[in-house]
Amino acid sequence: SQVITRAVRGNFFDIRQPVTGPEELEASVRYIEDGLMLLSGGHIVWLGEWLEGEAKLASVRKTAGLEIDDYRDKLIVPGFVDTHIHYPQTEMIGAYGEQLLEWLTRYTFPTEQQYHCADYARRMSKFFINQLLLNGTTTALVFGTVHPQSVDALFKEASDINMRLVAGKVMMDKNAPDALLETPEQSEADTRALITRWHNRQRLSYALTPRFAPTSSPELLQKVRLLKQEFPDVYMHTHLSENVAELSWVKEMHPEHQHYLDVYHQHGLTGERCVFAHCLHLDDSEWECLSETDSTIAFCPTSNLFLGSGLFNLQKTWQKQIRVGMGTDVGAGTTFNMLQTLLEAYKVGQLQRYRLSAFEAFYHATLGGARALHLDDKIGNFDAGKEADFVVLEPGVSALQKLRATNSKTLAEKLFVLMTLGDDRNVYCTYIDGELAYARDEMSGDFCA
Ligand code: GUN
Ligand code: ZN
Repeated sequence: SQVITRAVRGNFFDIRQPVTGPEELEASVRYIEDGLMLLSGGHIVWLGEWLEGEAKLASVRKTAGLEIDDYRDKLIVPGFVDTHIHYPQTEMIGAYGEQLLEWLTRYTFPTEQQYHCADYARRMSKFFINQLLLNGTTTALVFGTVHPQSVDALFKEASDINMRLVAGKVMMDKNAPDALLETPEQSEADTRALITRWHNRQRLSYALTPRFAPTSSPELLQKVRLLKQEFPDVYMHTHLSENVAELSWVKEMHPEHQHYLDVYHQHGLTGERCVFAHCLHLDDSEWECLSETDSTIAFCPTSNLFLGSGLFNLQKTWQKQIRVGMGTDVGAGTTFNMLQTLLEAYKVGQLQRYRLSAFEAFYHATLGGARALHLDDKIGNFDAGKEADFVVLEPGVSALQKLRATNSKTLAEKLFVLMTLGDDRNVYCTYIDGELAYARDEMSGDFCA
């Protein structure tokens, strides 16, 4: 049997298995007050009650001098999964005044041009990964820029801590500044080289990343299709139906296509591991197509509200059994923090008379997000055999949180208050691959070159 290399004590919360509806969640919740989790290297070996675990620990093989990581007053949850984020937009978060298309022109494209410089990309990659960790996010699906060096830099940082990360270089050949454009041939060659370099290396995966239909010629989308056929287990990551002006533009550009999704679908870019951010203004046939092809949606509430894009219909994903995960969509999104993102998701629900429970919210942020990325066999909860990526949350940090906590009774209420009042202050520490990767009181999170 394996050698136990780490033992973690605390209060554990996760969801045992994927569900087909929110009403199944309550029965799927696992909450172990004063539990013990045993790790061997980067994997979970066992989770149970402290008393049982203590006895077990005494009888198994373990590393000499093993000490218990004691978080008895804290809440330990699986690491958060962010299914849509742009690392090269970190420095432009909170850009004022525009909706999507003007926001791209005025803020995004100028910012992304900086990633031509490999050293800049390296510094921002460090900053970005640190932001993920200090917010408890242990896996993300990430947009780079059009520059291959942007993705080299990001994968390098993730590989240094053996993080599970999916990323890709943007592919685009029209409707952007010349400095960000490439030919379909160049895009294909650069992408293939990145796949060869990084895909399935350690815990890294590659995502083909055509930015969205308006920046993609048919020839470019044809290259994406060929790459997807050549490398069937890579992801495809793009945007779909975010903003109404974008919608009319796509209609104008592609009168031959039935709807926006059809532009991707006709190029073979729907299906397993195809992830579409936003999906706010879909017609019935688009919902149906996403469902039939088993494609994935990334729900990005802070971005959708910040850019005034619209309200995502989460209920529809249950009705149509479509995979969905939470995305922060930084820098259109306004936070890296998953707790704050869940709160905004709750408000989006409120505006449509949909009640997002805390259990459902945490499900989407953990096991649901893992399932959305077809990674639920590896991450998302504390099942034995899964990878040891988890977050230690301190529920009561501020005076207000402490006051409110004394006044909340059930686990559901405690979690809901945590997502209402919580942020990065509540992330006490983050483990990646069975190792402490961030500790709030030891690492400032400041920019370090
Ligand atoms: N659509 C195309 N590019 C982008 C982007 O960078 N951010 C968002 N939110 N939507 C997009
Ligand atoms: Zn986006």
